[in-house]
Amino acid sequence: MRKIIIDTDPGQDDAVAILLALASPQELDLLGITAVAGNVPLELTAKNARIVCELAGRADVPVHAGCDRPLSHDLVTAEHVHGRSGLDGPTLPDPGMALRDAHGVDFIIETLRREPPGTVTLCALGPLTNLATAFRRAPDICARVQQIVLMGGAYFQVGNITPAAEFNIYVDPDAAAIVFGSGISITVLPLDVTHKALTTRARVEAFRALGTPVGRAVAEWTDFFERFDKEKYGSEGAPLHDPCVIAWLLWPELFSGRFINVEIETVSPLTRGMTVADWWRVTDRAPNATFIGDIDAQAFFDRLTERLARLAPQGAR
Ligand code: RIB
Ligand code: CA
Repeated sequence: MRKIIIDTDPGQDDAVAILLALASPQELDLLGITAVAGNVPLELTAKNARIVCELAGRADVPVHAGCDRPLSHDLVTAEHVHGRSGLDGPTLPDPGMALRDAHGVDFIIETLRREPPGTVTLCALGPLTNLATAFRRAPDICARVQQIVLMGGAYFQVGNITPAAEFNIYVDPDAAAIVFGSGISITVLPLDVTHKALTTRARVEAFRALGTPVGRAVAEWTDFFERFDKEKYGSEGAPLHDPCVIAWLLWPELFSGRFINVEIETVSPLTRGMTVADWWRVTDRAPNATFIGDIDAQAFFDRLTERLARLAPQGAR
C-alpha cells in the first residue's frame, strides 16, 4: 500500500488519473487532493476535483485549494484544450462536498510532517506551484517525501504549449526548477511517453461500453478533449497524459526510461519551461530524475478500463 497526495489541475486527463487512483484502493491510499491553477483557474480546478471524487462516490476524500497563480509568472490556462469549465464533455452535477479549510500547501506540509518519513508519494499532474511553495516554506519536508511522480516536460516530443516547452512546466518554470533541484527521488512522465498513450476509437468505446456513469463520463471527456490533439498532430486520438502517473505507480513494468539529468529553462522567454533532458548523457551534470520514454500502451488501456469498471454505483451492473 502506497500513501499518495495528488496535486492536480483538472482537466479531463487529470480526472481520469484521479479515478484510476480511487479505483485502486488495494495499492494506493489517497490521503488527499490539492488543486492548483493550471488548465483552468484555481476556483475551477478545486471544483472539478470534487466533481470527480463525487462521480466515484468518494465525497470523503479531502480536497484542498492550493496556489492560484505561478510563483512569478502570470497564469497561463488551457481552455482551448479542456473547455471553459476544464471538464467539458459530459454534464455533471456541481459538487455537494465542500473544500477542506487548510490551504493545499499547508495540507502537503502537515501531512508530510505527520506521516512517517519516506512513506508519502507526491503525484503531480499540473504546474508544480504547490509543491515548490511547500518546499520553500518548509524545507524540512523534502527529506520526508518518499518520491515525486509527475507528468511534465518533454525531450523528443519537445513542446505542446510552445515549440520548446510542455504546459505544466511552462506555466511555472521556477516551481519546476525548485522541484527538480530538491534532491527528492523524481520520476517524470513526459510527452515522450504520454504521446504513446493515445486514445483510439476502440479504446474510447471500451470506456463507454462499461455502461456506468464513470465509463460514460470518461468516454465523453475523451470525445471532447481529443479534438485538439487530433487537429494539431493529425493523430487518431489524444494522449491520456496524467493517468500515466498513476499507472506507473500501479504497473511500472509497463514503462521504461533512463535515470538522467533534467534541468529547467527559467530565464529565456524563447525556451521558458524547456526540460533540458540529458538523454544521451553528453554532460557531466548529475542525474536527478528517472525520465520515462516508453509504455506498453495496449496493456495500459486494458488495465485502466478494467480498473474504471470497478467504480460502479453500488449494486449496479
Ligand atoms: O501537457 C499536458 C499536461 O498539461 C497535462 O497534465 C494536462 O492536464 C495539462 O495540465
Ligand atoms: Ca494536468
